[in-house]
Amino acid sequence: MTTPRYAGRIALVTGAGRGIGRAIALRLAAEGADLVVDFFRNRQPAEETAEAARALGRRALVVRANVGDLPALEAMFQAVRQEYGALDFLISNAASGYNRPALEQTVKGWDWTMNINARSLLFAAQQAVPLMQGRGGRMVAISSPGAGRVLPEYVVVGASKAALEALVRYLSVELSPHGIVVNAISPGVVPTEALQHFALTRDGAIFERLAARTPAGRLVSPEDVAGVVAFLCSPEAEMIRGQVLAVDGGASLLGTSILDRDA
Ligand SMILES: NC(=O)c1ccc[n+]([C@@H]2O[C@H](COP(=O)([O-])OP(=O)(O)OC[C@H]3O[C@@H](n4cnc5c(N)ncnc54)[C@H](OP(=O)(O)O)[C@@H]3O)[C@@H](O)[C@H]2O)c1
Repeated sequence: MTTPRYAGRIALVTGAGRGIGRAIALRLAAEGADLVVDFFRNRQPAEETAEAARALGRRALVVRANVGDLPALEAMFQAVRQEYGALDFLISNAASGYNRPALEQTVKGWDWTMNINARSLLFAAQQAVPLMQGRGGRMVAISSPGAGRVLPEYVVVGASKAALEALVRYLSVELSPHGIVVNAISPGVVPTEALQHFALTRDGAIFERLAARTPAGRLVSPEDVAGVVAFLCSPEAEMIRGQVLAVDGGASLLGTSILDRDA
């Protein structure tokens, strides 16, 4: 039997209990990586992700941390230092936000969303770099099409994702001398619980219409995103730096994006 390519590697995935984060964690575990499974509100799904990784023979540390809370973020990295003493892959996947029109946004919603979706990557990177020294680390952030396009009631999340993509470019350059590669993925519509927060998804047929309008003929699965994360963590992806890869089945080529107004 061949050794999986990420055997002996350690991956921290934020928001790894559910949705895309769970698929990323389990893909990296299937490829041999030991895990740090971060969650915020729902411990049970995070424990289930960890159990699934252990069933594959991997180690899995479950940590509760709101990534928008700096002391909690630091405590999570302290736990990583204690448990593993190193880190190879930092996958910044967790996101939150207040979906409402710009004129109804609040300072609290702005701070909450920015801190979780964007600020967390900067300060997680500060914590991660010493743990990645000499290991050729990888960071992958999960962005969204709202970073560059206008989606309904998405103003603050969109701004946070735009900030996230800018951070990816800056970190990519500044961390290259440390041997660390940083990129982002921008998935198209991925049917997860996150979409329940969008008013448009109350129309049950919207997913079929969006799939029909996607060149690939279907929506993106969490596993599709996870596969690209695994690729970006590989030596083959070493020369891809500071990029935002659209993983959307070609939807954005036609102007069809996540929950467009005319979808
Ligand atoms: N679904 C899509 O169509 C889509 C499209 C483009 C981009 N994305 C991006 O993909 C990523 C994952 O989305 P998803 O659809 O998988 O979302 P999801 O199903 O709603 O899951 C969100 C995950 O983030 C965690 N989380 C939320 N706030 C957190 C915090 N403050 N600290 C730590 N963890 C936190 C949640 O953990 P708990 O349950 O423990 O709170 C949960 O595991 C996000 O960055 C999202 O913006 C999604």
